[in-house]
Amino acid sequence: MLHALRSILSIATVCIPGLAAADAGDPLRGQQLFSRCSGCHSVQPETKSAPSLNGVVGRKAGSVEGYAYSTALSNSGIIWTEDALDNYLAGPAKAVRGTRMTLSVPRDQDRADIIAYLKSLGGQ
Ligand code: HEC
Repeated sequence: MLHALRSILSIATVCIPGLAAADAGDPLRGQQLFSRCSGCHSVQPETKSAPSLNGVVGRKAGSVEGYAYSTALSNSGIIWTEDALDNYLAGPAKAVRGTRMTLSVPRDQDRADIIAYLKSLGGQ
């Protein structure tokens, strides 16, 4: 039984990218982890030293009105799907060469939780 379950899980892992590395995100844990981001980002529609992440999920990259983004991010053409966020947070400079955001979130589960939290704030 356990063996069967393991096979099903490993098949699911192979077939559903994005679920491969981490369990479904926990928004409450994500909210705590957001303390790593909140020095620069607000989740209210206000701009700190970095653009607001209010409703970021589904938003076009570089689209907060009045924020002076790097050309790299403005021209990236990225839509912040969960996968795109995961990729960016894992290594911003690698995902968007020339972006001014330097902080990365190396642990898969931490990214999943932070993204679940961002999703819980609304957006598309
Ligand atoms: C030291 C300041 C700083 C920290 C800490 C930081 N960021 Fe950023 N972030 C930025 C800056 C600056 C930009 C704009 C980058 C650009 O213009 O290239 C940005 C951009 C972003 C964007 C793109 C927003 C958009 O409107 O396109 C996302 C998403 C993001 N950060 C998520 C996060 C998350 C999640 C964390 C915490 C894990 C985090 N950031 C931590 C400075 C920071």
